[in-house]
Amino acid sequence: MLAKYFKSMPVLSDHVSGRPDPGPYPAALASVFSAELFGAAEREIPQWPGYAPTPLREMDRLADELGLAGILYKDESGRFGLGSFKALGGAYAVMRVLAGQMDHCAVSDIRTGVHRQAVANMVVSAATDGNHGRSVAWGAQQAGCRCRIYIHRDVSLGRQRAMEELGAEVVRTAGDYDDSVRVCARVSAQHGWHVVSDTSYPGYDQIPRDVMAGYGVMAAEILVEILTEVPAQGPAPSHLILQAGVGGLAAAFCARLWLQLGTNMPKVIIVEADRAPSLLASARAGALQTVAIEQETIMAGLSCGEVSPLAWDVLHRCTDHFVTMADDLVPSAMRCLASGELGGGAIEGGECATPGLLTLIAIARDGAHDRRLRREFGLDETSRVLLIGSEGATDPNIYQAIMTAE
Ligand SMILES: Cc1ncc(COP(=O)(O)O)c(C=O)c1O
Repeated sequence: MLAKYFKSMPVLSDHVSGRPDPGPYPAALASVFSAELFGAAEREIPQWPGYAPTPLREMDRLADELGLAGILYKDESGRFGLGSFKALGGAYAVMRVLAGQMDHCAVSDIRTGVHRQAVANMVVSAATDGNHGRSVAWGAQQAGCRCRIYIHRDVSLGRQRAMEELGAEVVRTAGDYDDSVRVCARVSAQHGWHVVSDTSYPGYDQIPRDVMAGYGVMAAEILVEILTEVPAQGPAPSHLILQAGVGGLAAAFCARLWLQLGTNMPKVIIVEADRAPSLLASARAGALQTVAIEQETIMAGLSCGEVSPLAWDVLHRCTDHFVTMADDLVPSAMRCLASGELGGGAIEGGECATPGLLTLIAIARDGAHDRRLRREFGLDETSRVLLIGSEGATDPNIYQAIMTAE
């Protein structure tokens, strides 16, 4: 079946081993990503209008073809009608910021409009590749405050419009994503705006931590399904493949799982676009590295040359393998997801939803005679792999063009 969608099979562009066997959740992280931090988000977000856990799909046909026990795909395409997991983080952090401004009132008071008049002239700001900004704009709209979003030259018009439709004022900046983060920080400091960034930088990490606490809801939903509904979804996953831009999604996911599963953590594989391999470079060097983005990846949300230090703090402790993936087979993977042939139904997966799938196929179908990668990554017929479908058609025009190409 795969041969129908992939003219050639995906291969890893590069890979490096991280730190195997991470042990129990470390005390150094327990104070940063605590049960309280995640718990507050997990109590608040399910109260939002339109909340429902996103589906965990069982790709049984793909698992059969790859000789694995199971493949689970967390499908974030329907999250709050915003099309990506990012809906959880930015909006939650906006509400936390505003609650902080209102004498640390309850976040629910911001959500329900108790302070609507008082926050009306406050401004929240963010830099984005699209999805985080949409979440911040939506949160600002819900709370009734103003919103200013910075996007770089290559963010699509469709993504810009989606944020404008949510009431944000959108400004284009020169340079790439990392430059837009700096412009947003500088201009916001001049005006006294509240930056709601999904990436941390020196002296700024409380708000990104709240963003990541919001993402933790996704991991919590999976834990509920796999731990309390075992007959439905089978035993806990053995492998987790997480795509990364600044690393916030991956780190939030790992921290939330590690907190609960302790030494039963799955093996963690982090995949980046090979045009933005900042985590892989950091793993290789043993310390945070920045890479220059020379060409934008089609996986827009992964186009980050600078890692979030907060995310690195988690990921360098628990990641077994860092890998990178090229752009060329992303459209094929999107069409393959949409076909429904993998099992679990037809899936609307945007560009950033594909690198986990491509990585899994690359490892499991390893063309080498001795199946070296399969062994190196510990994949066999007992493995159950969890993939994150982090977005749907977040730019419907681009999505349609890819669906009808070929
Ligand atoms: C759909 C999607 N997937 C994955 C990511 C990567 O998340 P992070 O930058 O937190 O690593 C992003 C980031 O914008 C995204 O929009």
